[in-house]
Amino acid sequence: MKKILFVASEAVPFIKTGGLADVVGSLPKCFDKEYFDVRVMIPKYLCMKESWRNDMEYVNHFYMDYMGQSRYVGILQYVYEGITFYFIDNEGYFNGPKPYGDWYCDLEKFCFFSRAALSALPVIGFQPDVVHCHDWQTALIPVLLKDRFHDGEFFRSMKSVITIHNLKFQGVWDVMTIKRLTGLPDYYFTPDKLEAYKDGNLLKGGIVYADAITTVSETYAEEIKMPFYGEGLDGLMRARANSLRGIVNGIDYDDFNPETDPYIVQKYNAKNFRKEKIKNKRALQEELGLPQDDRKFMVGIVSRLTDQKGLDLIQCVLDEICQDDIQLVVLGTGEERYENMFRHYDWKYNDKVSANIFYSEPMSHKIYAACDAFLMPSLFEPCGLSQLMSLRYGTVPIVRETGGLKDTVEPYNEFENRGTGFSFQNYNAHEMLAVIRYAERIYYDKKREWNKIIDRAMAMDYSWNTSAVKYQELYDWLIGY
Ligand code: ADP
Ligand code: GLC
Repeated sequence: MKKILFVASEAVPFIKTGGLADVVGSLPKCFDKEYFDVRVMIPKYLCMKESWRNDMEYVNHFYMDYMGQSRYVGILQYVYEGITFYFIDNEGYFNGPKPYGDWYCDLEKFCFFSRAALSALPVIGFQPDVVHCHDWQTALIPVLLKDRFHDGEFFRSMKSVITIHNLKFQGVWDVMTIKRLTGLPDYYFTPDKLEAYKDGNLLKGGIVYADAITTVSETYAEEIKMPFYGEGLDGLMRARANSLRGIVNGIDYDDFNPETDPYIVQKYNAKNFRKEKIKNKRALQEELGLPQDDRKFMVGIVSRLTDQKGLDLIQCVLDEICQDDIQLVVLGTGEERYENMFRHYDWKYNDKVSANIFYSEPMSHKIYAACDAFLMPSLFEPCGLSQLMSLRYGTVPIVRETGGLKDTVEPYNEFENRGTGFSFQNYNAHEMLAVIRYAERIYYDKKREWNKIIDRAMAMDYSWNTSAVKYQELYDWLIGY
């Protein structure tokens, strides 16, 4: 039995701020259980729902020297859908209303977590063959495995994988501070290791020291070797190209299933969506106070409201979009400027725009089920899960051709009867507008063609089946048997 440990900062169903949590929570149960024992370790945040926290089972605790103090490390566990989740407890670090807050505090919090996660393994008696780390928050682990944890028998042959879900966030501070937080000696702070552009950089350390690097789509794996997407690390990505693979994300086909989804008013499937899906649109129009009209072209957005998601393109042409016969339903939180932008347009075009500036799992499902199209014009997108959820619910994605969006949405071709969505290439607001209007024309004037796009979208398989096998192959290769 091969033992794998996922270490990350978030995982569904316990805590989620974005797609990382979906991946870390849903991928482990898709491995072949006969050969792989995959467990997950995340912090125990005070902001997790009380019912989760109450049901966690105490495993053990110990004290760990960190930054000159002896600190408490509690270990709890919860077996969810057959997967063991471990939680690292320290109320000093994992308090607050959200998993992330102030940049500096986050750095200290996750350096502590990375060290505590490894230190906890002998205590719980779980000796993974591979530690699979995710993003900058756990990028220190591959470095620690080659440094202070290397001498003991327990850790020596442990391999590490780092998956880059978003290269933009790297965990950067001045070298002195990173040295203090990591406890690493001077040796590591040179430009071929943890130093980047004179600062200390945790993600860079992970990329340099991990035995394998993956990212969440093939196109993003190529893009990050170029300066535009490389976030200053494109040279390193090119240097480590032989150890870098793109493996596209999947989604949980049980949680996201229009046939069984408890959050939606009318369940439907690939056979009966022509009659049934519309009932979800009616219900959402009623719930959000939009005009009740079956025909209206309803476009959804469910997103973190940040620059990454291409919201400035939307801002640029939203007045023009609102001249059309359209309804735009937005669900998201994030940067104030975008929250206010959508609130403003909700006020200005009250019968066309509905801005829902909050986080809600049920509302997101209702939007995936109710809308005709889903808009995701990202500036960059390592993979993107929302477009996969849309495909699953027969809601036609309109995307920019970048990263995972390019790999998962095939553009409609009216001459060859192909395609599962609509896409545009350049980061240009009017190019986006033209494609939205093209989609509108197909929707209004060629409904049969539109429905065939939905047929093809719903026939796609973006469950974890294929990608989990690719991770298994990677683990096999690393472990060497
Ligand atoms: P990212 O990880 O960059 O935010 P993804 O598309 O990979 O983008 O994943 C986003 C996930 O977060 C999806 O599951 C999406 O449904 C969810 N999500 C984003 N914003 C909200 C919100 N306000 N309410 C509910 N779910 C949201
Ligand atoms: C990141 C990326 C997103 C990806 C998700 C899960 O948050 O922004 O594109 O789908 O991680 O891998």
